[in-house]
Amino acid sequence: MGKEGEGSPFEGRSLTVVNDFSIDEQLYLYEQTRELKRALGAGEDVGRFAINEPSMGLYLIFLEDSTRTKESFRNAALFHGVKVNDFNVAGSSFNKMESVTDTIKMLTGYSERSVFVVRSKLEGTCRWLDDAIGAYAARIGRKAPSFINAGDGKHEHPTQEFLDEFSFLEQKRWDRSAIHLALVGDLAHGRTVHSKADGLRIFKSVRVDLVAPRELALPAHYAERMAHNGFGVRQFDSIEDYVSQGDLADVWYFTRLQLERMGEEVLEKAPLLRRAVTFRREFLDKLGPETRFYHPLPRHREAPEIPSFLDDLPLNAWDFQSINGYYTRIVEIAMLQGKLGADFSGEPKRQPVYTDDFVEEVEVRQTKAHDYKVGIKPVENGIVIDHIGRGENIARTWDHIDKVRRIMKLNYRSSHGVYHSSSDSMYKGIVSLPDILSFDERQIKMLAAVAPGCTLNMIAGSRVRKKYRLHMPPRIYNLSVISCKNDACISNPRHFEQVRQEFYRAEKSSFVCRYCERPHDFGEIWDL
Ligand code: NCD
Repeated sequence: MGKEGEGSPFEGRSLTVVNDFSIDEQLYLYEQTRELKRALGAGEDVGRFAINEPSMGLYLIFLEDSTRTKESFRNAALFHGVKVNDFNVAGSSFNKMESVTDTIKMLTGYSERSVFVVRSKLEGTCRWLDDAIGAYAARIGRKAPSFINAGDGKHEHPTQEFLDEFSFLEQKRWDRSAIHLALVGDLAHGRTVHSKADGLRIFKSVRVDLVAPRELALPAHYAERMAHNGFGVRQFDSIEDYVSQGDLADVWYFTRLQLERMGEEVLEKAPLLRRAVTFRREFLDKLGPETRFYHPLPRHREAPEIPSFLDDLPLNAWDFQSINGYYTRIVEIAMLQGKLGADFSGEPKRQPVYTDDFVEEVEVRQTKAHDYKVGIKPVENGIVIDHIGRGENIARTWDHIDKVRRIMKLNYRSSHGVYHSSSDSMYKGIVSLPDILSFDERQIKMLAAVAPGCTLNMIAGSRVRKKYRLHMPPRIYNLSVISCKNDACISNPRHFEQVRQEFYRAEKSSFVCRYCERPHDFGEIWDL
């Protein structure tokens, strides 16, 4: 991170997604919260948790509506005796088209140190602000602020996740050996559900039952992440289907139908969809005695997923859950401000290391350049890019060649074509460039990203002198021809936040946006 304080490994950090804390760091948060809650309940002195620094400012910037998250943060800040600023979004310069980045820059100047709690429909906002504001703060002689994501679009809601897990741990009496959880409701739009793909990792064995009709199903990349994290995942279309088989979870997590995020087509079906994920009296006797229901809230007042006849039953864990938001958020603020954490001794969060493993030098077996039957003449000196889009159909291979030429701006004397590979009968594209003798690192990286699997042949005196096979680079950034295609991402050019585009290589040859973490097919990130 580069901005940790002396004593606490958490000082100055941001909380943009659940994984910004390692599992041990999450457990530390839960242990501290447990102790705080106990001490408060016993009427003991809780001074060691409190920051008490009026020069620190906590900004509540809620660009989407909120009750619990905002008010629990406000009350947590009051506990800490710090300045609380409730940013008036409706009357602010956002309405004069000011960017979020400019607004936060300005606010950073008002306190010696600041924590920004930001809720936005733009995904990845806090990650971007954390990247962008640090250098600015140093320039004006302020400490880099911490950013806390209080919900970003359909992406994540890490502080809700932490209070949810804390509540599950209470139900389990702090036994982390296993959890069996049903996620019920709008799994498509619910960011509190998406954060569970990582947050549940504190349990050693995790079973997740996804209960939602197809229209509200968990996006595939979150289901894949759950499977990747070793969770056993099952899917059901409705509560009715779910209860008709005997194996039910003892932790049920409901979410609201987020009608405000749904398109017309899905909205029309809302009553039917709602019925599929609303609990009914007839299901009650199927539940085990230990079963508890949770909900991040709010509930729909006319058609609640958890109907009000359940409110006074022992099933009701959602009321306790929402109170836990106050305790966990006190501890989160204390950690990020370095008030807590000096005694942390677990495994810290590791920053990813990017190795340049994408350029592989391969043995030159046949030194004489190929003599192709059609088209390309062997070059005497220059570069031949071979195996472009190998294995794709003929039309896609032509497109691929075209893409390579446009993105790499290969406007030179050259030739190209689609051929059969000599070792098998797959199609591949070749571009032959007699005027170019070498590519720099940036061009090689670009080529690797546009045409992973291609080979680069350096030819001199009609002989292949060096041959490289290019693989997907681990990270692609700083290119003017790439952009995130998620309309709701802060980095999408349509939002004019001037975010530097950045993607990471993920499994299955996809690239994940640094900000919204949406996977892209490698062909998709290019604008040309
Ligand atoms: C949730 C949210 O905003 O993501 N609410 C909350 O923070 N307690 C869920 C919702 O809006 O339904």
